Amino acid sequence: MDDNVLYEATGSVAWITINKPQKLNALDRNTVEAIAAAAGRAQDDDAIRVIVLTGAGEKAFVAGADIKEMSTLEPAEAQSFSRFLQDSLDRLERSPKPVIAAINGFALGGGCELALACHVRIAADNARFGQPEVSLGLMPGAGGTQRLQRVVGRGRALDLILSGEMIDAAEAHRIGLANQVVPAADLRDAVTAYAEKLCSKSPLALARCIEAIVSGGETGQHEAMVLEAGLFGLCFATEDMREGTTAFLEKRQADFPGR
Ligand code: CAA
Repeated sequence: MDDNVLYEATGSVAWITINKPQKLNALDRNTVEAIAAAAGRAQDDDAIRVIVLTGAGEKAFVAGADIKEMSTLEPAEAQSFSRFLQDSLDRLERSPKPVIAAINGFALGGGCELALACHVRIAADNARFGQPEVSLGLMPGAGGTQRLQRVVGRGRALDLILSGEMIDAAEAHRIGLANQVVPAADLRDAVTAYAEKLCSKSPLALARCIEAIVSGGETGQHEAMVLEAGLFGLCFATEDMREGTTAFLEKRQADFPGR
């Protein structure tokens, strides 16, 4: 694995840390590939149920795509870089295991877009969010024009993307961009607590919820309802569903086998 990305399995949780703090964890192509490889490793490990993405250091989650690497791209190369980023983040969003962004500082440009591709965003109170691309003469290219408006609404997305201004963690929470804000010193504990809550649920049910929300959100409501019903039906083929309903009726905690 690339040193730019660290991988640590703690119980059922895989922590993936983007490790270029001297560059505020800016995303160059190699780093994005290493994140994808680490996420793939977590997917392949049956012991892992939740994935956490965070940044090294106290200043940044990710301060964007690497501006130096991007500065010399020709138009066709930039288009292909954008498709590469989009595909990498799409794969993360389609992960059947929940992905939590532990946002420990700046989440700007591609960093905000990376956080948007995660299923849950928990931010330290010193985090700052923004899409500053217009100040560089460019625009979001890692899905930000689409995901941001789906998360915070078109009006706020237009405001953030056109102004290029940063917002603090409290404002990100107010508009629904951050699910939770905690003191910076408590971020790891808060993310661990949230991850453990997800680990206690049926992993098969979680995967189907993600599929219904992510894939369903990209189609019309009727098709999405058909997809939802199909996935709902599949839940009834699992031992997890038998265990969950039996445990409720027996007034005990469920212990999901993940089958
Ligand atoms: N790419 C490359 N290097 C970056 C970077 C980035 N996105 N962000 C920060 N760095 C580097 C800086 O160049 C600096 O390196 P040196 O020490 O070698 O000079 C180092 O990280 C520390 O950064 P600063 O000295 O600038 O730290 P600061 O505290 O003064 O400022 C900041 C922090 C406001 C976040 C500032 O670094 C900044 O504005 N960064 C760029 C943010 C940005 O524009 N992001 C969007 C990128 S475009 C994009 O992401 C496109 C897309 O959608 C795919």
